[in-house]
Parts: sequence; C-alpha cells; structure tokens
Amino acid sequence: MKISVIGSGHVGLITGVCFAEKGHEVLCVDHDREKLARLKKGEVPFYEPDLPELLQKHVASRRLVFSDRTEDAVEFGQAVFICVGTPSTERGKADMSYVEKVARTIAENLKDYRLVIEKSTVPIKTGERIRRTISRYVRGDVHFDVASNPEFLREGSAIYDTLNPDRVVVGVDSAKGESLLREIYGGFNCPIVVTSVGSAELIKHASNSFLALKITYANWLSRLCEASGADIEQVVHGMGLDKRIGHHFFGAGIGYGGSCFPKDVDALAHISEELGVDAPMIRLISDTNRSQLERFYQRIESELWVLHDKTLAIWGLAFKPNTDDLREAPALRLIEKLKAAGARLRVHDPVAMPNTRKLHPDLYYAKDPIDAASGADALIVCTEWPQYKEADLAKVKASIRVPMIFDGRNCIDRKKAAELGMTLFGIGKAPVKPAE
Ligand code: UDX
Repeated sequence: MKISVIGSGHVGLITGVCFAEKGHEVLCVDHDREKLARLKKGEVPFYEPDLPELLQKHVASRRLVFSDRTEDAVEFGQAVFICVGTPSTERGKADMSYVEKVARTIAENLKDYRLVIEKSTVPIKTGERIRRTISRYVRGDVHFDVASNPEFLREGSAIYDTLNPDRVVVGVDSAKGESLLREIYGGFNCPIVVTSVGSAELIKHASNSFLALKITYANWLSRLCEASGADIEQVVHGMGLDKRIGHHFFGAGIGYGGSCFPKDVDALAHISEELGVDAPMIRLISDTNRSQLERFYQRIESELWVLHDKTLAIWGLAFKPNTDDLREAPALRLIEKLKAAGARLRVHDPVAMPNTRKLHPDLYYAKDPIDAASGADALIVCTEWPQYKEADLAKVKASIRVPMIFDGRNCIDRKKAAELGMTLFGIGKAPVKPAE
C-alpha cells in the first residue's frame, strides 16, 4: 500500500522506515532540505540503533522516497500520516501550529479520498479540529476521514518498539478508514485496538503519564527508604512480583527526562484543566520529578560542603542510555546548577557529547570514563550506560582525587565499591562508606 508521512523526525522517519520494512511504499516529507539530502544518502541526523541500516536498505529498495513538498504527500498515498512536532509552550500547552498548517495544506491539495492520520502526540479533540480545518479549507466536495494512531516508540529501541508493538491503537469513526488502517497494520503481529478518535488520543497521554507516575512513585518511595533505612531495590522487587504491579518502569533514579514524559504529563494536566477537570495528581507527577533532581543536587552539595572550585566528573549526559537526546535530560539541569555554584566539570557520554558541547562548550569533554574521573573531587553518574555499570572501579579509584561516587541511577557495583573502600551514595539506598 502507498503511504505518505509528513514530518521526518524521530516519529515520522521511524514510522516510514518500518512501514517500508513491512512491505509498504512510503513517501516521507520534510521541509528541511538539508535533512532530506542526508536522509536520501541513508544518513540519520540523530542516534537511534538499527535505524541507519534500515533507512539505507529501503532507500536502496526504493520503497522509501523523500520530498520537501507536503503537496506530494497528499497525492502519493491514500493514507497520510501527520508526524510533525507538537512542542510544549508554557506549562503543558502544546504548540499545534505545525499540525494546523499541515491540515490546511492537505485540504488545499485534496483531490480524492484521503485518510488523514495523526501520529504525533496531540491533545484529545485535536482530530476534531483537524477535521474542521480540512472541511473549512477543502476545495470542492472531496471526501476524507481523520484518524488517530498514536506511537508508543521509546527512543533507543524505537525500531524494535515500532515493529513489535504491544498493540496498535487506531481511533477512527468510519468503516473505510478502519479498513485502510487494518490493511496498513495487517502485517503486525499484535492486537489492533479500534476506538473513537478521542479515546485513541487520550490513550497516548494517559499511558505516558501513567508510566511517569509509576517512576515517580518509585522515586517518592526512595525518599521514604532514605529516611527509614529501607532499601528501594528490595521494596520495588517485593512489590513488583505482584503481577498487577510489575517491575517495568519502577526504577528509582534522579527523575525521568526525554521529549515525551515531561511534555505529555504537563499536556495531560493542561488538557484536563481546559476540560474543567482538576488534575492535582498529574501536576504532582512533574513537580515531584523536578524535586527528585533537586534532592540529588542538595545531597552532592551537602557532602562536598563547598562546590566552588571543586572538580566534578559526570558520567552520562543523554536522558537515558542508547540515545544522544538531551531533551529534559536530568544531567543538563545538574550541569547548570553545578556551573552556577562554580564547580569545574569533566563530562563523558558515549554518544551525547557532541550535542552537549553545542550547549556547554566550556566543559571538559573526556576521552573515556576514566579520563573524566581523573583528578576529580567526586564522580556523579546521571545515565546508566553499560560502560558505567561495567566500569573498572579500581581504575576509577586510582585516577580520581577523592573516591566518592554519587550514583543517580543505582547502576554502580556497590559490592566492588565497598571492597575498594570507596564512598558511594545511591538513590533510596544506604550509603557505602569505608570502614572508619
Ligand atoms: C516514552 C514512552 O516509554 C514511549 O512509549 C512513548 O512513545 C514516548 O515516551 P522515551 O521517552 O523514549 O519513551 O523513554 P523511556 O524509555 O520511556 O524513558 C523515559 C524516562 O524515564 C527516561 O529519562 C528514563 O531514564 C526514565 N526511567 C525509565 C526511570 O527513571 N525509571 C525507570 O524505571 C524507567
């Protein structure tokens, strides 16, 4: 089937590549000509495992072609996916201007039936607004439908998540639209959940907010553990064996980041309040998430007494492993606070250093984790990359000035740290301290 995808960022490009992998013919549109030139050469402008290989495969197979004209997307495929950005503006309100402009352009170029499918994460009732916009600008009596098909891909495992979804959610109000979507997803081995457009839109925001709530619950529990001497990993393990609770997304740390959870949680609170439904619980998720990093900073500050003129090593800049994405990364917020306090920073990340250097050219970018630790008064871990979990702590101790680690993701080997007589502070766990 011929499919058009408007917007070739994380969501649009991965959606297009995966549809091509499933045998569809795909046209991906983006207005950034420089990005398109790189994509046509099979180059991906961000780090995502397996995506370059799949992109090159389908550029070569010609199942995947590109254009910088939205009009071409309207002509090419009967299904037209909207995958343009919906960035956050003030606390939670999504900027819908890109979506609205695409809807107008689709309307002005509509000649035959098209199924317009919103895949970008959008507030509930956006489908209704897209339909109204197209009806207002369409020329002549051309039929169309609007559907919602939210994505559930995680950065770092986006290809796998898109090709192996737990479920495909399609919000559609017409038989024709539903049959087209069933044809598109026929080759996916998972339940296809058909709902109203509004329910599909809400499923997305509600799912992400629930995952953020679960993480935040673990983070809040970690505070109780620190105050009571309980151990967060033992508590979460004991709770998670209850299948109704589960262990996934139940890991305490320095808070969630990324382009989705922070935005979607604030958006859900904003949407609820716009609909006249109070959302104190949802507001509390982002407030607690922000204060989780604050507590981590205060722990560092109180242990080091004075941060000014101290040299601190930071392992991990990306908001999570297997991505170079810095959006809402806790490490970035920590860097801003430590710099303001006058600390000198030696940082390392396996892939996110080039992006960080654009924001903070004045930091020392280490060759490797041990180089970052060299001469530092303490080591701070913000992202649980495998390189850090498996780091040779004896080499860290030999290279660092003070063998003290603040582990924001509970990923450093505590037993090894204790054997080496190092000091290790985790989240929700008793500190490891050398025998007095
Ligand atoms: C998320 C959703 O998982 C995905 O379904 C949706 O489509 C987009 O948003 P993503 O933001 O890419 O995906 O990353 P994810 O793996 O969900 O992690 C989000 C944040 O939660 C990261 O900062 C991660 O460090 C944090 N996290 C995750 C925890 O703090 N604890 C956990 O146990 C799991």
